Amino acid sequence: MVNRDTKLCISIAEKTSNFGASMHNAAYEALGLNYLYLPIKTTDTKGSVAGMRALGIAGMSVSIPHKQDIMPLLDNIDDTARTIGAVNTVVNIDGVLTGYNYDWVGAVKALEEVTKLADKKVVILGAGGAARAIVYGLLQAGAVVTILNRTAKKGQQLASEFGCTYGGEFEQIRELSCDVLVNATSVGSQTNDIPLHPEDIPENVVLMDIVILPVETNLIKAAKARGCKTIPGYRMLIHQALRQFAAYTGQEAPFAAMEKALLAEVARQS
Ligand code: ATR
Repeated sequence: MVNRDTKLCISIAEKTSNFGASMHNAAYEALGLNYLYLPIKTTDTKGSVAGMRALGIAGMSVSIPHKQDIMPLLDNIDDTARTIGAVNTVVNIDGVLTGYNYDWVGAVKALEEVTKLADKKVVILGAGGAARAIVYGLLQAGAVVTILNRTAKKGQQLASEFGCTYGGEFEQIRELSCDVLVNATSVGSQTNDIPLHPEDIPENVVLMDIVILPVETNLIKAAKARGCKTIPGYRMLIHQALRQFAAYTGQEAPFAAMEKALLAEVARQS
């Protein structure tokens, strides 16, 4: 029942989805918590933070285009979020707003569902905000990371900042030995585009696509045809949502209930 004691958590994004709401609300129900999670479509970062303070919103999940812009508006930034340079989670404790980044956890845990990462050769396509979090996570997990990016300067900058290798444009994949390939670009989101020529996808590797919709991107389809184990973007969502849930409620997240709700939403979108 929603009433005056209900604690509100929201997500802010330019493009909203039902994935977060499905998982968080299912988790509240599973644990009998008087919480409500509401996705809000907005490009107003400053107004969202002011609203969080004014209305006592307990937690806020942060998506594009707010992840960097929100940082100077918060009271504290967790060290990892500062290193990554982006916040995807804001927690309000007695009016003090702290920013965290759990995107990297989502990526690492989603990969670890199918492969070990220590000493594995991982190739990342992209050097934007999403790639930053994933590169950070992979290095934490002990992987050997090579970044490929269309714009050399951005790829080189990220590689030198985090102490890994920039290998050139996407075509350079042909020259690289690779156990795990991650598409950390937005190529394929809402469209039929594919970042690599299907024949350039290494055979029998693990491939993760960060693109969430469509659920099965053309990259995932092509990778399956090349014998790869594939990980769709929504697997990352659940693992970062578990961390967010714990941060918003102080309770351990009910994985089974959240996964069931996510898979039902994925089926609706497929
Ligand atoms: P996000 O925060 O989602 O990572 P971003 O910071 O704008 O978004 O980064 C987008 C990434 O996708 C970048 O690596 C970008 O490559 P450039 O650095 O060359 O811009 C990559 N990207 C986007 N569209 C692309 C395309 N059509 N072909 C190749 N790379 C693309």
